Amino acid sequence: MRLLRDLFDKNAEWARRTEAEEPGFFTRLTGEQTPHFFWIGCSDSRVPAEQITGLMPGDLFVHRNVANLVAHQDLSCQAALQYAVDVLRIRHVLVVGHHGCGGVRAAMNKQELSGPAGEWLRPLRELYEQKREYFESWSDDQARWDKLCELNVIAQVGALSRTPLIERAWDRGQELAVHGWIYDLRDGRLQDLNVTITSKAEAESLSSS
Ligand code: CO
Repeated sequence: MRLLRDLFDKNAEWARRTEAEEPGFFTRLTGEQTPHFFWIGCSDSRVPAEQITGLMPGDLFVHRNVANLVAHQDLSCQAALQYAVDVLRIRHVLVVGHHGCGGVRAAMNKQELSGPAGEWLRPLRELYEQKREYFESWSDDQARWDKLCELNVIAQVGALSRTPLIERAWDRGQELAVHGWIYDLRDGRLQDLNVTITSKAEAESLSSS
């Protein structure tokens, strides 16, 4: 209960194997981090960022929360974004949602959302409500759920590209792209939703479309 021995054993084995495969790996990483990607994903245990992209420690700067939401008033997300954009000068921000997201499901359900999770998911419930007619025209519940997972990613890409931090980066000529991806739990595959935004002008055309 207190020690979780297994996890420490697994960690020791992983560290040993990693160093054996690439001698000096950990020493190299003690200098500074130079990740190329900022990953904003869901907390879901089935969507581990590095594992599903085959990347290693040092490759991804990561922020995960329930249902991969980007809220301007969320200090945790904004602080990570600030560090990623202003200090690490990351060029690619990846918003990665996933099909079968429990947070998205909860926002679709009719019952009242309660507690901190309910408060957190409110913007998602609003997104669903805005498009309720569209969604109710679908008979397939799974397809509806999948679609809201995708629309959520697109909404977060839009929110990110209107974030002052990102607008300022574009204003000073920094190269920065915001991507929207979806991960399918059923086959382990990532899909690009083709909503990449690389400038203020593109952000404006997304919000007016
Ligand atoms: Co999720």
